Amino acid sequence: MSEASLDYANLFAKDLPAGAGRWGGFPKYNFVGGHNNPDEIPVDALAESAVRVLQQEGRGLATYNMNSGPLGYSGLREFLVEKMAHYRGIQASTDEVLITPGSNPAINLLNQVLLEPGDTVIIELFTYQGAANRLRSLKVNLVGIPLDEGGMRMDALAESLENLRQQGVRPKYIYTIPTLQNPTGTVMGMERRHEMLRLSREYGVPIFEDECYSDLIWDGEWPPAIRSLDTSNHVIHVGSFSKSLSPSLRLGYIVAPWEVMSRMLACKNDSGTGALEQMVVADFFQNHYEDHMDTLKASLRHKLEVLVAALNQHFGNAIEFSVPPGGIFLWVKFPEGVDTKKLEAAALREGIAYNPGCEWAADPEAATNYLRLCFALPSDDLIEEGIAKLAQVFHQEAGVP
Ligand SMILES: Cc1ncc(COP(=O)(O)O)c(C=O)c1O
Repeated sequence: MSEASLDYANLFAKDLPAGAGRWGGFPKYNFVGGHNNPDEIPVDALAESAVRVLQQEGRGLATYNMNSGPLGYSGLREFLVEKMAHYRGIQASTDEVLITPGSNPAINLLNQVLLEPGDTVIIELFTYQGAANRLRSLKVNLVGIPLDEGGMRMDALAESLENLRQQGVRPKYIYTIPTLQNPTGTVMGMERRHEMLRLSREYGVPIFEDECYSDLIWDGEWPPAIRSLDTSNHVIHVGSFSKSLSPSLRLGYIVAPWEVMSRMLACKNDSGTGALEQMVVADFFQNHYEDHMDTLKASLRHKLEVLVAALNQHFGNAIEFSVPPGGIFLWVKFPEGVDTKKLEAAALREGIAYNPGCEWAADPEAATNYLRLCFALPSDDLIEEGIAKLAQVFHQEAGVP
């Protein structure tokens, strides 16, 4: 006789999100998410690093946190301090850097120490879905600031801060992705970086700078991080190894003053970030940062060219986009009235996955006629075929092109 199965429905905590679906594998033409280029995973060099670090320091795996304390493996923090000084102009000590399993857990930690339901956060109007959804699940009010070719618009930010002040609201932070913004790919110039910092000081609102993509600039100006301009602890800086190396390795970091860091550490209850990946990545990047970034960027640039050519060929002037100077995304605008969310299912039936614009916006209505394409994962052939098929689907379902 079979036992009655336990019904968990009555045991679940209140206010849980809807359950996740089972994973059905990647679609053939996969333009979603923030995957990387599989051809540029430096498999041999990573294997060499793994052997080296295990031989040299493997016995440290007997301890929690590799004998390096809760901030993370010291070799990786040392690499980051040097890298941030050299490429982002950031002067930080290893005590101001916390390694996390990807940058999302770092975002969670900062949210945990700063936010309560009903708080307000300022965010770019088109923005990283993961950041916006985290804020929504915390019942935080999002105030979206429009962007233009130069990233978040400072006139709109100033106006919003002033309006909020007049309503007696002090936002908890300004979340920005200034360097290769997700999804728009824009890079905020120096003048705006200084202006944002000035506004942050004037209104007493910290800046939460997410530089997940800043290693991937290949063209034009590469302004230093906003954190590098700050001498008064107004900027908290988060970064990731997901885009410069691998999202599966799960490594990110956050740079914060000790006052904030000590609170985040008290909340970080995961018993430490995996040590082997920290050791391997530290060793690999200490030896190969520049050559790896050069080849990765060249490959991404090439894929972007393939994507742009395919879009021009199959969509012509029915769509608009700005070619970003780096990164892994293209943000594409369709004519008013085309709702990319409604076309998602028809595209998926043809094996094509893209990110509908409404999911990448503080105000979903503002982005219904946009979509985001990640070009890092599919091969040249799959990009070309996928875009040709996408044009057929859009033509059939929405008359575009
Ligand atoms: C702007 C931004 N921040 C943070 C993340 C999180 O990345 P991870 O947790 O893999 O470091 C992403 C991922 O796509 C992102 O686009």
